Amino acid sequence: MKLLDLYCCQGGATAGYQAAGFDVTGVDIDPQPRYLEINKAFQQADAVAFVLDRLDWIRETFDFIHASPPCQFDSDCQRIRDNEHPDLIEPTREALELTGLPYVIENVSGAQAKLKDPVELCGLMFGMTRTYRHRYFETGGWTLPQPHHPRHEMRQVKLGRRAQDGEVIQAVGNFSGVGIVRAEWDVPWMNRDGIREAIPPAYSRHIAEQFLAWRAREAAA
Ligand SMILES: C[S@@+](CC[C@H](N)C(=O)[O-])C[C@H]1O[C@@H](n2cnc3c(N)ncnc32)[C@H](O)[C@@H]1O
Repeated sequence: MKLLDLYCCQGGATAGYQAAGFDVTGVDIDPQPRYLEINKAFQQADAVAFVLDRLDWIRETFDFIHASPPCQFDSDCQRIRDNEHPDLIEPTREALELTGLPYVIENVSGAQAKLKDPVELCGLMFGMTRTYRHRYFETGGWTLPQPHHPRHEMRQVKLGRRAQDGEVIQAVGNFSGVGIVRAEWDVPWMNRDGIREAIPPAYSRHIAEQFLAWRAREAAA
């Protein structure tokens, strides 16, 4: 499977797709030296322009597209360099639809209303013990089932405080506990800036596996 990861940042999503065996090309508007540590196939570009300028090549080259446009709607969302971003969800969806390829658009809870029938993922669904990190996934051209959402039993650390044993970490802003998150998410190449933007790779690995299962069902039907 060949996957285009738009708005790839330091590669949380990419790592999960790679773990599922996907061959990934990442696109980000900023240089991403830490991304290059896990994947050399990287293009620095505006994501929407990148797609619109290469529609035929993208259709011929890729099987699936992941897009994580930066959010401006969620108070928890901290930008690496600034807080001013246009709403990119709609133009991203329009560009993805033009490709005709199956896709997923990921975003944060504040942007839920902008996503079509999003599926919610939580760290508890993937055996994580210190991560809730709800993220929302709109699919186009295929369907992703909503997994069972286990009950939250543990306390979340208050923002700005160091997490104690038994507390769930909130990887937002200038959070403490980068080492804990690196270990829990298995993202040793990432720094705090990348982690606070990222989805845990377990989420995208799950999406990849569900996508493959959907394709197999379609082929058998
Ligand atoms: C929320 S982060 C993506 C996180 C990533 N999916 C992960 O799991 O690690 C959004 C990224 O979009 C990038 N970005 C912002 N505007 C962009 C644009 N117009 N085109 C491409 N990338 C852009 C930012 O530099 C940032 O790295």
